[in-house]
Amino acid sequence: MSAFWSWWITLIALANILACVWLIRWTARKRPGEAAEHETTGHEWDGLSELNRPMPRWWLWLFYITIVFGLIYLVLYPGLGRFDGLLGWSQYGAWEEEVASMEERTAPLFAEYAKIPIPELARNDEAMQTGRRLFGNNCAVCHGADGGGRIGFPNIANDTWQWGGEPEEIYASILNGREAVMPGFGGAMDDEDVEATAAFVFHLSGRDAPEDLIQRGEETFGNFCAACHGPGGEGNKAMGAPKLTRDEWTYGGGMDSIMTTIRDGRRGRMPAQKDLLGEDRVHVLAAYVYSLSADEREDAGDAE
Ligand code: HEC
Ligand code: HEC
Repeated sequence: MSAFWSWWITLIALANILACVWLIRWTARKRPGEAAEHETTGHEWDGLSELNRPMPRWWLWLFYITIVFGLIYLVLYPGLGRFDGLLGWSQYGAWEEEVASMEERTAPLFAEYAKIPIPELARNDEAMQTGRRLFGNNCAVCHGADGGGRIGFPNIANDTWQWGGEPEEIYASILNGREAVMPGFGGAMDDEDVEATAAFVFHLSGRDAPEDLIQRGEETFGNFCAACHGPGGEGNKAMGAPKLTRDEWTYGGGMDSIMTTIRDGRRGRMPAQKDLLGEDRVHVLAAYVYSLSADEREDAGDAE
């Protein structure tokens, strides 16, 4: 806050309090006097008229007390611009204290959970309730409350993974974050090549596209894309290149979205949670994420 705004707020706050003092004194002084005991305000309803009587003294004193309280409060606590208050209290400090005491109380619990292997922890209902809370507070903004993702943020509730779905891979994704880099090919390809490559991606994911485009696209895909996504679009978890054979998309699976991806590239970034949450909480979150795709994993296990 600049010095100007600091003074501005201080002045407004003090002026308001002074104005209250003045207002009370003014209304109190304007006592109608004992003579005018029965003076009315002129308001009348159904034969009842409102008397203009002075406020009771105790009521006035209540006002004065609140004003004094307000002034003392402003001396002790922050409130006047940049002035910190004599007690040195701050929202941030109070929050940190709360977090520290919370940390102290929950750390042993998380340390216990950290000893349990992720697949086993994923079947522990109590731990998963904690996991769901952590997920709601830290992950849902991007991945959605159910982990289903949205445009630009991957679905992590299914068993399709950019960086791998083994417990330790999920753990690493969360702990250290991930940075995906797909370069744009708008400079290297003309529009027709881009369209043909997109048509081939359609074909890879089991959808229809004009045969001639697919044929042309197969070639460009081999030249430009296979190095990362694999010749059959199977993906490569070492660099986070997604599988293109399942009709499931982070950036949208329509022709336009895929052409945009090819032209401009994509750079998804998963923020590292190590310094924010610590290893033990990340362990619980990894188990929670692992549990979200448990159904699909079992299906796949049966098939293989
Ligand atoms: C250098 C490696 C690399 C090359 C080459 C590459 N990609 Fe990618 N591609 C990636 C990565 C990594 C991602 C994930 C980007 C992200 O998550 O932000 C990606 C994402 C995509 C997506 C988005 C998938 C989704 O879920 O929405 C499509 C489609 C795609 N690539 C198609 C292609 C095509 C077609 C080519 C060839 C023209 C190509 N890629 C070349 C690495 C590559
Ligand atoms: C600021 C948004 C954001 C937040 C918050 C976030 N993520 Fe992510 N996350 C992403 C993006 C974007 C990616 C995809 C990175 C890429 O393109 O490879 C991702 C990727 C992942 C992956 C890897 C998915 C795969 O297919 O391999 C996992 C697992 C994951 N996130 C879990 C979490 C968990 C658990 C949390 C909460 C602690 C979280 N994320 C919080 C944006 C976010």
